[in-house]
Amino acid sequence: MSDRNVGVLINNNMLRGIPRGRTGHEKISFYEESAREYDITPVYFRLQDISMQDEKVKALVFENGSYRWRKLPLPKVIHNRALYFKNPSANRKLENLCSKKGRIVFNRWNRYGKLFVHRLLMQREDLRPHLPETMKATVKSVRALSSKHEAVIVKPSSSSIGKGIMKVDRIGTRWRLTYPSGLRKGSSLWKSVDFKFKLPAVLRTNIVRKPHVAQQRLNLATYLGRPFDMRVSVQRGLDGKWQMTGIAAKVAKKNVFVTNVAQGGTVYRLDDVLRDLPHLNPLAVRESIERFSLSAAEHLSTRLPYLSDIGFDIGITPEGYPVFIEMNLRDLRYSFREGGMMEEWKRTYANPLAYARYLLDGNEPG
Ligand SMILES: Nc1ncnc2c1ncn2[C@@H]1O[C@H](COP(=O)(O)OP(=O)(O)O)[C@@H](O)[C@H]1O
Ligand SMILES: [Mg+2]
Repeated sequence: MSDRNVGVLINNNMLRGIPRGRTGHEKISFYEESAREYDITPVYFRLQDISMQDEKVKALVFENGSYRWRKLPLPKVIHNRALYFKNPSANRKLENLCSKKGRIVFNRWNRYGKLFVHRLLMQREDLRPHLPETMKATVKSVRALSSKHEAVIVKPSSSSIGKGIMKVDRIGTRWRLTYPSGLRKGSSLWKSVDFKFKLPAVLRTNIVRKPHVAQQRLNLATYLGRPFDMRVSVQRGLDGKWQMTGIAAKVAKKNVFVTNVAQGGTVYRLDDVLRDLPHLNPLAVRESIERFSLSAAEHLSTRLPYLSDIGFDIGITPEGYPVFIEMNLRDLRYSFREGGMMEEWKRTYANPLAYARYLLDGNEPG
């Protein structure tokens, strides 16, 4: 029944890995399991597998215990899990695909600049107090923010897994820049340099080479003396509405100021890290994170079309107040696996298919 097919658009490596069960962090079998629940069939393909002339696609489909290639009508509803932001011709094809009447590619755009997202969130008065002061990074703005705040983060506007993030701390009348210099086992090695007036060359070079944002360093709550923030999965579900799928707390490695797992961070359940903050009520903290995340998602989805699957990075202050760090639109979802949160991990795959079912039933994207 091809009208029950849902496309899952993925990139080359992932597709090649499917028949061999080698799909990196992506757990394809979770799609299969949840598809049964919603009476739909996920079919996996790349952009180049689509033939626009006859609107057909060559896709991998799970049948009788293994994946097989099938030529199928192009599904009406497609969940995008590939990244195309650096590929103009792929983007044109995707654009073409979306402009066909009645076809929906959700999560179509999955990379926006950090400054752009900050500006969108600033539009809402109730969200503003949760945002760090943020500017495009220039010599002037880094100076201005470093004079005003105890510490400043300077990070690439479009990046992920904690790559290229720098920090400026005020030390009396001087400043100290901490920056990544080289890698060991995939994690950054950190160096630091003190300065008084002129910003260090490494910082100036980095912000000229590609766009960065400079922002006030948030005062994040700590677990065992290490700052933590959370990966909060917020997704549309079977009723098309936003819901919070789960919270995973990422704790920085000792003496490191970024919490990314790729930078040596460790994932725990929220309740575990909150044991170190006994003055906070875990239920109230969870609720305030949920309230903030849902408001942010609702607002962003009035500005960004086909938004449906968000992985926010959200911290809390030592007083338990949620603060916004960034929005990811192609959450790798593995924080939940790392934190041993198997139910939540599965739900992050099930919800996009539930939403696909909602769209297949003819409902508006919302
Ligand atoms: N303004 C900030 N204040 C405190 N910590 C921050 C700030 N910005 C980033 N960090 C830390 O660095 C990590 C990575 O930053 P993030 O903006 O999420 O970039 P990436 O896209 O590389 O994950 C965050 O998870 C957080 O631990
Ligand atoms: Mg992040």
